[in-house]
Order: sequence, then structure tokens, then C-alpha cells
Amino acid sequence: LPERISISLTVNGETRHLDVLPWTVLLDLLRDHLGLTGTKKGCDHGQCGACTVILDGRRINSCMVFAVMKDGAEITTVEGLAKDGALHPLQQAFIDHDAFQCGYCTPGQLCSGVALIKEGRAHTRDEIREFMSGNLCRCGAYTNIVDAIEQVLGSNAEAGQ
Ligand code: FES
Ligand code: FES
Repeated sequence: LPERISISLTVNGETRHLDVLPWTVLLDLLRDHLGLTGTKKGCDHGQCGACTVILDGRRINSCMVFAVMKDGAEITTVEGLAKDGALHPLQQAFIDHDAFQCGYCTPGQLCSGVALIKEGRAHTRDEIREFMSGNLCRCGAYTNIVDAIEQVLGSNAEAGQ
């Protein structure tokens, strides 16, 4: 076996030092090495968005990157969205709008939606749909997911954020 490579990642605010094999994929590292199983494996081929996490402020499909390529990165997973016992506003909005059924796509939808809201690029329902198009939902909860994101965008606009 080749040598393991030492990397450091900040995951949900905590610095983690890990020795990984060169081919360890970030998704597997999160789930299998760190026990953060909220991030889901759907297609494992960059096509469904179930594995979306926020890396240095950008949403990425964690099944598509080798962990060693992201040495030093800051990562937020679905487990890191709630703060001090309070749900992230988008998590609350998903509950308010019934934006999930089986829930398998939900961690990816939430991470993608949180990053999209921060990006500030989506202003209309069509734009939300377009920028969320990398996150598939086999249950077809799309309308409610857009409702939830729209609610948070609306309350941020009211709050002048
Ligand atoms: Fe990564 Fe589907 S599991 S995109
Ligand atoms: Fe089931 Fe989206 S809620 S896949």
C-alpha cells in the first residue's frame, strides 16, 4: 500500500488532523473517518448532489474530490448548520414548508441552499430552481424546497442582509 498522507481540515469549526490514502474521497472521509453520516452518498458520480457540502464557502459534490486535494480547507456539513441548539433558518424553513419526504437528498439540499443564499445570486423562483438544479430529489419535493429557500431570502431581504 502507498503511504498515507497527513492533511488537516477544519470541519464544522473543529480542526481535524487525518492520515489518508491518496485515493480517499472527501465524502468517504467525512462519513467513514469522521462519522459525519449526515452527508449522503447517492450516485457517487457527481450527478445527484446528495453529497453536497460547503467547502471554503462554495458548494461542492464531496464524492468528486480527493481529500488530499483539500488540505487546509474549511468544510461545513449538514451537522454544522445548526448553531447553539438553534436550527439554521433554512432548516426551519424546510420544516415549515414540508420540503422533504424521505429526506435522503435533504442534507445536500440544505448545504446547497445555505451556500446559494450566501452567494446572493438567486432573486427569483426561476433563479433558485436554476442554481439548485444540481441537487436532485427523487421524491419530487422541488416546489417546497424552492418555497423554503424563498422564505429565507425574503426574511433576509426584510432584515436588510
Ligand atoms: Fe455525489 Fe451524487 S453522491 S453527486
Ligand atoms: Fe426524498 Fe428528496 S426528499 S429524495
